[in-house]
Amino acid sequence: MPETILVAVAWPYVNGPFHVGHLAGAYLPADIVARFERMRGNRVLMVSGSDCHGSPITLAAEREGVAPQEIIARFHPTFLKTFMTLGISFDLFTQTYTENHYRVTTELFLTLLANGYLYRDTMTGSYSETLGRFLPDRFVEGRCPTCGNPRARGDQCDQCGQLRDPQELGEPRSILDGAPITFRPTEHMFLDLARLEAPLRAWLDGSDRSGWRPNTLAFTQNWLREGLHGRAITRDLEWGVPVPIADPAFADKRIYVWFDAVIGYYSAPFEWAERRGTPDAWRDWWVPAADGTTPRSYYFIGKDNIPFHTIIWPAILLGHGGLALPSDVPANEFLNLEGEKMSTSRNWALWARDIEDRYQPDQIRFYLAANAPENRDANWSWSDFVQRNNSELVANWGNLANRVLTIAQRNFGVVPTPGALHPADEALIAATARGFASVTEALAALRLRAALGEALALAQATNQYLSDQEPWKLVRSDRERAATVLHTALRTIDTLKTLLTPFLPHSSQRLHQLLGYTDTIAPMPHIEDAIAPDGSPREVLAGDYPAVQHWAPSALPAGQVLHPAEPLFRRLDESVVDEELARLRASTR
Ligand code: MF3
Ligand code: ZN
Repeated sequence: MPETILVAVAWPYVNGPFHVGHLAGAYLPADIVARFERMRGNRVLMVSGSDCHGSPITLAAEREGVAPQEIIARFHPTFLKTFMTLGISFDLFTQTYTENHYRVTTELFLTLLANGYLYRDTMTGSYSETLGRFLPDRFVEGRCPTCGNPRARGDQCDQCGQLRDPQELGEPRSILDGAPITFRPTEHMFLDLARLEAPLRAWLDGSDRSGWRPNTLAFTQNWLREGLHGRAITRDLEWGVPVPIADPAFADKRIYVWFDAVIGYYSAPFEWAERRGTPDAWRDWWVPAADGTTPRSYYFIGKDNIPFHTIIWPAILLGHGGLALPSDVPANEFLNLEGEKMSTSRNWALWARDIEDRYQPDQIRFYLAANAPENRDANWSWSDFVQRNNSELVANWGNLANRVLTIAQRNFGVVPTPGALHPADEALIAATARGFASVTEALAALRLRAALGEALALAQATNQYLSDQEPWKLVRSDRERAATVLHTALRTIDTLKTLLTPFLPHSSQRLHQLLGYTDTIAPMPHIEDAIAPDGSPREVLAGDYPAVQHWAPSALPAGQVLHPAEPLFRRLDESVVDEELARLRASTR
């Protein structure tokens, strides 16, 4: 029975384009898992969208004196462009600024209210006397009571990761003008986390979390240790989802951005189902089936978003009832650039749009996956990029495929028919079977870096086999033996192609065709759904996929016509390193 798997990806604030840290931390790992699960026949729904509310967006709009909609219209298409170029295969990439999302958020709010998990209370808001208005938490900074960071934000401390309230900060001040802020009473709606604590603990303790990443678990447990208390889910703001409470006191308030953004994971499947003409189809990813099977869900996020996904979102879902809770929350660490933390204010960042046209998509995907910040911070370094491209992607894998295909195609034209196997052939066949099993296991466990490492180790073993067997000599001295060696090697390469498809979908598809297949190994979103006829990205990226089942060791048949090989990847000249470093330094402030 195929499983249904929701691949949920963090909703990026739509206040700027992507840098490689976004890709490494959420979008690429999510895509790798989505492709793998689709290939092995599971029903995947991969969704996300632009996070359109909140202070990052209002701040950008205020600075330019434009409406938030203008900021959305500017950056949302850049996300789509990057996804299309790199092959990030969303079923739907939408926005929180849609009618659908407003409706679903409103309904969920009202359900929580009806279930008794929301209450009204007076809280203290951060007030700017100089501006004469309340300030969002993010516009406030001060000293973190946990770690002493003097520049902790009012919503979260970047140094220790704790979620904060502005009142907890020492010497709170406004980031707009540096003036001290005062606190004034203001009425808001609260999520009753204290009442949700017991069910939340029961859920967390009730099933096996041993597969979760240690960092995700540690964060969550630390948070729970302090006990949960109610959190305001409305704000004194003009931009956001209106508060569905018929009381003039709430007319000038809006739902808090984090409350509505996480609901996107639930609202996007509604939109997807509606668009494809099967309005009830969202249920398959959210509602446990009659036989008790619960849909799986993975949430790919950066480590700064952990508590929202392991505590607040599950609490909201428990308060609603009847919906599937996260199966795993694979949070990633950060990607540094040339050993330094990326900083958008200094423009010390590697922007996706700057590299996506200079390198092949699979070159970028390869480096980001091989170097994924899964359990510790990782680093993008240009000299490492060039070196790994040339030694691992080109020399170890690309040349292997190219070499075997060339000899086989030139001498046989088709996949040759093998004769009796020698122990060396049997050893490679066994290694291939083991490699297939271990890559599958690692991908299923969301250990992507390990999965890629296993595949590359198998490529290495195949290279060794070829140097030992020397089929380029055998074609002249012993044609039958050459046929056996080439058949064995082609099958391993064909298996490697499958194992690498989630990581390297573009080059794997090309290799698939060179090996004589005519179908699509792993379907991509239909380009026409995302790109308008004039080439500009449309508002949403929505694809639908034919069901495939393409995750199996090679059964490449003897006699299948081979096509003349062509290099799968570009070798990069050492001069790329200096060029890129110069470009980076020139753009840094
Ligand atoms: N917009 C947030 C960020 O960029 C992430 C939101 S994730 C979701 O950090 F849970 F809200 F969807
Ligand atoms: Zn701190």
